[in-house]
Amino acid sequence: MSVSPDRDLQASASERSGAKLPRHVAFIMDGNGRWATSRGLPRTEGHRQGLEALRNMIRHAGKVGIEVVTIYSFSSENWSRPETEVSFLMGLLRRFVQRDLSELHDANVRIRIIGGRNGLDAGILKLLQEAEELTSGNTGLELVVAFNYGARDEIIRAAQVLAQKVAAGEMRPEELTEAALTEQLDTRGLPDPDLIIRTSGEMRLSNFLLWQAAYSEFYFCDLLWPDFDAAAFDKALDCFCARDRRYGGLSAKTY
Ligand code: IPE
Ligand code: IPE
Ligand code: MG
Repeated sequence: MSVSPDRDLQASASERSGAKLPRHVAFIMDGNGRWATSRGLPRTEGHRQGLEALRNMIRHAGKVGIEVVTIYSFSSENWSRPETEVSFLMGLLRRFVQRDLSELHDANVRIRIIGGRNGLDAGILKLLQEAEELTSGNTGLELVVAFNYGARDEIIRAAQVLAQKVAAGEMRPEELTEAALTEQLDTRGLPDPDLIIRTSGEMRLSNFLLWQAAYSEFYFCDLLWPDFDAAAFDKALDCFCARDRRYGGLSAKTY
């Protein structure tokens, strides 16, 4: 029997009813290169297909009612890839913003970019800023794009700002609290990710959201990113809903 995607969603949603959905889901979209090479295709074809999977994932996140989605699109370490792959990825980001921005804006999506901005190509910077500005008043899904992002770099940039404030006498050292550092991070104002999904079977963070992931739930799946679809997303959400988050305390079931 064939079941429509919407029926799948309803079935899945009712299984999750009563359980709390994650507010913020972060994705380490991994496995594009392997998806392509296993088909005898150039790695760039995997990135192209990965973009399709990303578009579908964003639509599904909006449908399900996720508040914030963060995507790891290019890490501060990804510059070490061959120049041809790096420039393909830059072109893909450019095309994503140029082609999808109006659709995302119409869908009330708010875009935010995180990651280091120093040394980035001026054209790309301008596009990213325009995307943020255009969508800044939107009230639907918040799409956080981690581009040229490395968590250690983010933490160091935040620490430097705070250290400068202390050196200038604007802040006392004891005012450097968890809240103060959180406020200086690129993710300021966002809830921490409740769920971090990594595809392709790798089980590491690769310098993603190290500070914010302190109490995140992790979900690893073997699917390569271009194969990640709505059903895979629902499976991850169902798995999340069955988790018992204790934050160092005791399970609610214990009381
Ligand atoms: C993830 O896929 C996309 C980026 C890192 C930009 P990969 O390109 O890392 O694919 P694999 O891990 O080599 O298969
Ligand atoms: C993490 O994937 C970065 C992105 C998905 C953008 P990588 O493929 O770069 O991570 P490693 O090298 O396997 O740790
Ligand atoms: Mg990879």
